[in-house]
Amino acid sequence: MSAVLPNTARFGFVPMKPSDLDAVLAVEQRVYAFPWTRGNFVDSLASGYSSWLMRDGEGMLGYAVMMLVLDEAHLLNISIVPERQQAGFGSVLLEHLFAVARSQAAVRMLLEVRPSNVAARAFYDRHGFVGIGERPGYYPAHQGREAALVMVRSL
Ligand SMILES: CC(C)(COP(=O)(O)OP(=O)(O)OC[C@H]1O[C@@H](n2cnc3c(N)ncnc32)[C@H](O)[C@@H]1OP(=O)(O)O)[C@@H](O)C(=O)NCCC(=O)NCCS
Repeated sequence: MSAVLPNTARFGFVPMKPSDLDAVLAVEQRVYAFPWTRGNFVDSLASGYSSWLMRDGEGMLGYAVMMLVLDEAHLLNISIVPERQQAGFGSVLLEHLFAVARSQAAVRMLLEVRPSNVAARAFYDRHGFVGIGERPGYYPAHQGREAALVMVRSL
């Protein structure tokens, strides 16, 4: 799970800005069958959610949005550019979110994931998240709606 960092000198995290949204949406629309809309990102930024871009010398590697409320962090979106997946970058981005959340006194992180999203479920299992329940009909689906699996881990 070690990240391959081809250009470590320019590797880093920057807060997401409205001017990043064209690039973010281009990735979002490639990685999800039911992507967030521009409005979802605009609302997240306007609400002050912890929103990050991760990039290196070759450009954007991925992004994430996390809501911090009292001692809880809620992971709302984490996405890695398709060509850069399975190289450890999602793990590096998630570790960044853990560090940010801890620095804001969060003691646990919650998330929802589609049961059909095998890669994401394996990713969260690998990072110590455990299932604590389901939210029926949470996600739109090609036929009807799909439940969300709710997962949590301590920070
Ligand atoms: C989920 C996601 C963020 C993971 O990022 P990533 O950079 O590809 O993940 P990593 O390379 O850090 O993988 C870490 C671990 O996750 C698991 N994993 C990641 N991708 C996987 C895949 N396609 N299939 C099975 N397991 C996978 C593995 O256990 C892996 O550890 P290993 O490399 O030692 O086997 C990425 O696949 C993604 O952006 N998916 C599309 C968006 C999405 O579904 N986001 C989550 C919504 S809830």
